[in-house]
Amino acid sequence: MGSVSLLSAAGRRLEGKVALVTGGASGIGECTARLFSKHGAKVVIADIQDDLGHSVCKELQANSTSAFVHCDVTKEMDIENAVNMTVSKYGQLDIMFNNAGIVGVSKSNLLDIEKSEFEQVINVNLVGPFLGTKHAARVMIPARQGSIISTASTCSTIGGASSHAYTSSKHGVVGLMRNTAVELGKFGIRVNSVSPHAVATPLVKNFLKLDDDGVHGVYSNLKGKFLEAEDVADAVLYLGSDESKYVSGHNLMVDGGFTIMNSGFCMWND
Ligand SMILES: NC(=O)c1ccc[n+]([C@@H]2O[C@H](COP(=O)([O-])OP(=O)(O)OC[C@H]3O[C@@H](n4cnc5c(N)ncnc54)[C@H](O)[C@@H]3O)[C@@H](O)[C@H]2O)c1
Repeated sequence: MGSVSLLSAAGRRLEGKVALVTGGASGIGECTARLFSKHGAKVVIADIQDDLGHSVCKELQANSTSAFVHCDVTKEMDIENAVNMTVSKYGQLDIMFNNAGIVGVSKSNLLDIEKSEFEQVINVNLVGPFLGTKHAARVMIPARQGSIISTASTCSTIGGASSHAYTSSKHGVVGLMRNTAVELGKFGIRVNSVSPHAVATPLVKNFLKLDDDGVHGVYSNLKGKFLEAEDVADAVLYLGSDESKYVSGHNLMVDGGFTIMNSGFCMWND
């Protein structure tokens, strides 16, 4: 069921909630910010792409209030400021979506990769969600509620689908999610991650050097269906809404069954 039909069937599912979305200026984050807003949430977009972030934010204001804050997720002061700005503007933080991410350089051989290149990906993709989770928890603990969601990837559970740095970072995101879900559960805060397969966003098109059709065709298990940013946003909406009130510590795969398939040993290979 698409987002629009869900909207008419179930009403505005985030009415009264406040969400902070990192990496909200483009791709999955932008799409999720739009869906959150349609469902009544006040949305703060945090990104390093200021012009894009501001223009998405302007469009969201047709549905509900929205604000942009410049935020580099690798800098603790920026994350701290984004969380503080959200709370001072809207009075609370209910949903933290740690989504900003990069693929980094696409070198695949271990011996060619510089330490600094590895660290850059870990900084954005893992230290970013760590800082986002920490500062969201700082304001959610006194409120005794909240939903923290981080974007992992199919690379969070399998090897060989991306670079060493990217795969390590996404495995790390799931480890961080599970550990913090245990600690923060004591305060009524839920922590989950979402793991998409390939979506034709700027990040993936640059990495795979493919256009939209090319991305749709890669490694798909579910024939005739293409993963779109809207499908990931729907999963994040579920994790952010009260419909998932007893779901915590969960890595929600949005991969059409890709990670449970072993294509080298499959009874249904053509
Ligand atoms: N597109 C896919 O197929 C796919 C699959 C699995 C996981 N993911 C993950 O989804 C997330 C979003 O990626 P996307 O595909 O939408 O890419 P995208 O490039 O369209 O969007 C990523 C956003 O993050 C922002 N960003 C990058 N570095 C940042 C930083 N240091 N601080 C703040 N913002 C920063 C960018 O400016 C951009 O707006 C990433 O975590 C990515 O790893 C994407």
